[in-house]
Amino acid sequence: MMEYKLKQLDEEKVFKDPVHRYIHVKDQVIWDLIATPEFQRLRRIKQLGTSYLTFHGAEHSRFNHSLGVYEIVRRIIFNFQNRKHWNPDERLLCLCAALLHDLGHGPFSHSFEKVFKLDHEYFTREIILGDTAINRILEHVEKGFSQKVADVIAKTYPDKLVVSLISSQIDADRMDYLQRDAYFTGVSYGHFDMERILRVMRPTEDQVVIKSTGMHAVEDYIMSRYQMYWQVYFHPVTRSAEVILSKILHRAKYLYESGYTFELKPIHFLSFFKEDVQLEEYLKLDEGIVSYYFQLWQDEKDPILSDLCERFMNRRLFKYIEFNPNLEMNEWMDLYQLFQEAGIDPDYYLVVDSSSDLPYDFYRPGEEEERLPIHLLMPSGELKELSRNSDIVEAISGKKRTDHKLYFPKDRLDKLTDQHLKRKIEAILYKRGEK
Ligand code: NI
Repeated sequence: MMEYKLKQLDEEKVFKDPVHRYIHVKDQVIWDLIATPEFQRLRRIKQLGTSYLTFHGAEHSRFNHSLGVYEIVRRIIFNFQNRKHWNPDERLLCLCAALLHDLGHGPFSHSFEKVFKLDHEYFTREIILGDTAINRILEHVEKGFSQKVADVIAKTYPDKLVVSLISSQIDADRMDYLQRDAYFTGVSYGHFDMERILRVMRPTEDQVVIKSTGMHAVEDYIMSRYQMYWQVYFHPVTRSAEVILSKILHRAKYLYESGYTFELKPIHFLSFFKEDVQLEEYLKLDEGIVSYYFQLWQDEKDPILSDLCERFMNRRLFKYIEFNPNLEMNEWMDLYQLFQEAGIDPDYYLVVDSSSDLPYDFYRPGEEEERLPIHLLMPSGELKELSRNSDIVEAISGKKRTDHKLYFPKDRLDKLTDQHLKRKIEAILYKRGEK
């Protein structure tokens, strides 16, 4: 009988995909992994969290993205066949790691991770190594295979070529999400010539490199990443929804800890509030469950919880101004006090949010955010770091951009009856120009 790890489906299966046209599955192992409850759960987690409140098309799921990353790696490996440095025995490992790399994401991961001190990478490992259908399939491939998959995703696997396919500054993960998020949000950034990049990728001993003739396609990819971060991922309206979502979670946790009696008891959140989340509970909480609570919590007696939930469900978001609390400490303290005087709890209704991104970085060994740079393979056979050859990439290399905004409910301020107080608040907020 054919070994499980080599077993092919009688007929190739295809998924219709708006970004890659078709996603091809021939391996029994991949087909079985997709069918597990842990992988199917990703259908119920949106890829872009609260972005759908800004870009209404952005309802695509982590399931879509995970299949996309798998498909890109499958195509890269197909091109690597018979090339020096490529070890065909690593094929199935690469495909499994690509498919499963985001398995541990929870609902609205960004806010949940911050508020409840969770880490999706930890849960990805837990699902792969724990008592799950995913683990049973991987261990059926060969004993210890699940550990290998977890190591590739954690970037600790010894074969760095394999790791670089899944996570590096030009990996299958980024190539999929940039194009997919561009497609579903409908923005015109995020597009680049992936077919060309795949054709010029070459395996080396410890990483994927790009033939120098493909440099301009890579420049386009770097620029598209830069644009997507500022135009889509850090969009101030999306962040406003994110701020409200985080405050709902904070408020619910606070109420629970202070002995408040909920109309709708937060049973699915209890282990999150206690910051002791077991895998089984983690897997149960998807975005459907979260929406269910938010919908019903609009009727809670606590005015802050019900107001924040009503805002989230009906997209009554906070307004924002540019505001850097590090430079404007006095204004910040004044506003905090004035909000208290106005009866608008500043801990929930006056929120600074900061985003920062480093679009591309050259090699800085030992630094906290150490990243492996992209290397070009020159006709002479030597490798050259991308920013040394590309003026465009050099211009944005190593430059971190940070953006601070202050969020608040303008509708509440408009309704203030104390005109004196209202003018004092507005004088601070709007001297910079309101958005
Ligand atoms: Ni991903």
